[in-house]
Amino acid sequence: MNVRGLRFVITGSAKGIGAETARVAAERGARVLVSDVDDEAGAATAAEIRTSGGDAHYAHCDVTDEGQVQALMARAAADLGGIDVLHNNAGTHESMIGDEYTLETMSKATFERILGINLVGPFLCAKYAVPFLRESPNASIINAGSTASFLGFPQNLAYGASKGGIATLTKNLAVDLAPDRIRVNAYCPAAVETMMVTKFVDASPEPEALKSMMIRSHLVPRLGTPRDVANLVCFLASPEASFVNGILWLIDGGSLAWRGTTDVLGMSS
Ligand SMILES: NC(=O)c1ccc[n+]([C@@H]2O[C@H](COP(=O)([O-])OP(=O)(O)OC[C@H]3O[C@@H](n4cnc5c(N)ncnc54)[C@H](O)[C@@H]3O)[C@@H](O)[C@H]2O)c1
Repeated sequence: MNVRGLRFVITGSAKGIGAETARVAAERGARVLVSDVDDEAGAATAAEIRTSGGDAHYAHCDVTDEGQVQALMARAAADLGGIDVLHNNAGTHESMIGDEYTLETMSKATFERILGINLVGPFLCAKYAVPFLRESPNASIINAGSTASFLGFPQNLAYGASKGGIATLTKNLAVDLAPDRIRVNAYCPAAVETMMVTKFVDASPEPEALKSMMIRSHLVPRLGTPRDVANLVCFLASPEASFVNGILWLIDGGSLAWRGTTDVLGMSS
């Protein structure tokens, strides 16, 4: 996981998995541009990394806004002298937006909003990062997939569609950018302890039962942590992963390796 000296742009990195990736990468000597729509939390994350001796800056960027995405990549190139790693992390779920979950209650605007952030955003970021990535000897794009890139889940229509799109976007970008020696991969987590999962669980009529069911579907009977995913992102970004390309890397505690909950194995969480 040697990311020393690599220049990371991480979208949606004020909180959650993105913020933890910024911390882990900086701990290992990477230079990080934290970006988000939540300026207060984003600036605080970058400041915390600097206080710990890391190299981090903050820039506002809404990944659905083409002008802001273009400006983010230009800022990264100016501040960091280039871009080696684009971490397309920003994402949201319908439970973060409202309570329109079903086919018949979800508005077109909500469906399009989720796709805009989770799928169009990564496309825009890739588009405007590529001229800089092309100049890097160790370039890669790392997208946020999900177990929802592979399977259907309850109350997950728009999110599932967006993460299914990320699966094929990742492979198509890997093909298109191969001549430029830019690797493109995705990490695909099961439930990870962040605000997104907390909101999803809290929106359920039976939050404790849902959380327990999530944990019992993992062969490693716990929720994932942002650090679990951050470690994987750093590996995918590192030169050690130079032969890893176009992959959807599950990081799911084994949840997609089987069908069931750990009760049937006599395990308690
Ligand atoms: N937490 C999980 O269980 C889980 C599982 C699978 C995949 N993922 C994916 O991992 C990524 C990070 O998830 P998380 O759990 O850390 O989420 P989170 O909600 O904790 O953090 C998401 C961040 O994205 C930012 N964001 C939202 N809209 C944005 C926009 N338009 N432009 C820029 N930033 C924006 C938010 O402000 C927030 O800081 C997402 O793409 C998510 O879909 C998460």
